[in-house]
Amino acid sequence: MAFTGSGKVWMNGSLVDWADAKIHIASHVIHYASAVFEGARCYGTPRGSACFRLDAHMRRLYDSARIYRMAPQIELPALTEAVLETIRANKFKACYMRPIIYRGYEALGVNPFPCPVDTAILTWEWGAYLGQDALERGVDVRVSSWARSAPNTFPTLAKSTANYANSSLIKMEAITEGYSEGIALDTFGYLSEGSGQNLFLVRDDTIYTPPLTASILPGITRNSVITIARDLGFRVREEMLPRELLYIASEAFFAGTAVEITPIRSADKITIGDGTRGPITTVIQRAFFDIINGDAPDRHGWLTYVYPGEPLQAVGAGTSTAKAAN
Ligand SMILES: Cc1ncc(COP(=O)(O)O)c(C=O)c1O
Repeated sequence: MAFTGSGKVWMNGSLVDWADAKIHIASHVIHYASAVFEGARCYGTPRGSACFRLDAHMRRLYDSARIYRMAPQIELPALTEAVLETIRANKFKACYMRPIIYRGYEALGVNPFPCPVDTAILTWEWGAYLGQDALERGVDVRVSSWARSAPNTFPTLAKSTANYANSSLIKMEAITEGYSEGIALDTFGYLSEGSGQNLFLVRDDTIYTPPLTASILPGITRNSVITIARDLGFRVREEMLPRELLYIASEAFFAGTAVEITPIRSADKITIGDGTRGPITTVIQRAFFDIINGDAPDRHGWLTYVYPGEPLQAVGAGTSTAKAAN
């Protein structure tokens, strides 16, 4: 989806016009991928605009910065407030938020230490990443010929821009060969994750997902799905999963901020289950959308309302805007 090119961007403490949100070509980040970032969503709920798990995203951002020895000039609570301020400045009801901490302009060389640690926040309106149809009917995927990074190479608990070179290779390969997404294995051959989303499988009423040791990003949607599934009484197992479990799963789905909860209907041209959104996927997807739409109680405190005066109504009083799980 192309940018509109308007609105405000937060850069090192100031709100600037979108067109002026620029950095120098000699900035360290451009040459050495020295940035960590977040992707989070704000939803327009019947009770007001609410960011989903903003605290968890900001915590992961600062964890990522710590792993890369970056000390942001701004403390975590102030940057969290700046994210909300940026949404308000743009008057968005619903949007995607992209805070980024990066090594800026000073000198070039592999050593990032001489370069400043700069911070910016982008917000823009972004709909369903793989399309509304994908949320309902699922997507066709392939197992990628590219593996996720080996342990102790690129730290996958950090959401670093460097990791997305690997993600781009996975995504380009999938698209070029007519698939919506690729699923990468780790370097030991176990299931890892998609190019920008975590993976869940269902077999015999048990929900499986690869553990943090399978070179995955510790997804916040993944964590939410595990919580929702356990709340609903499902058994969830985080364990190393062989590739072939994908082919014999009764259901499979992706979880991520961008894809939300998207069913997988085939892998390597093998139909998963009966090739439609499965019953457990449907239940979890509905529970997820009910929370983010403000239609179910926010019992885990996942919503941060953006505008003063919101939330506007009691839970359950609003009208659902969820289309995916209907
Ligand atoms: C590689 C990768 N895995 C998983 C995820 C899902 O993480 P989250 O649910 O926090 O968006 C993302 C999205 O950020 C990702 O880029």
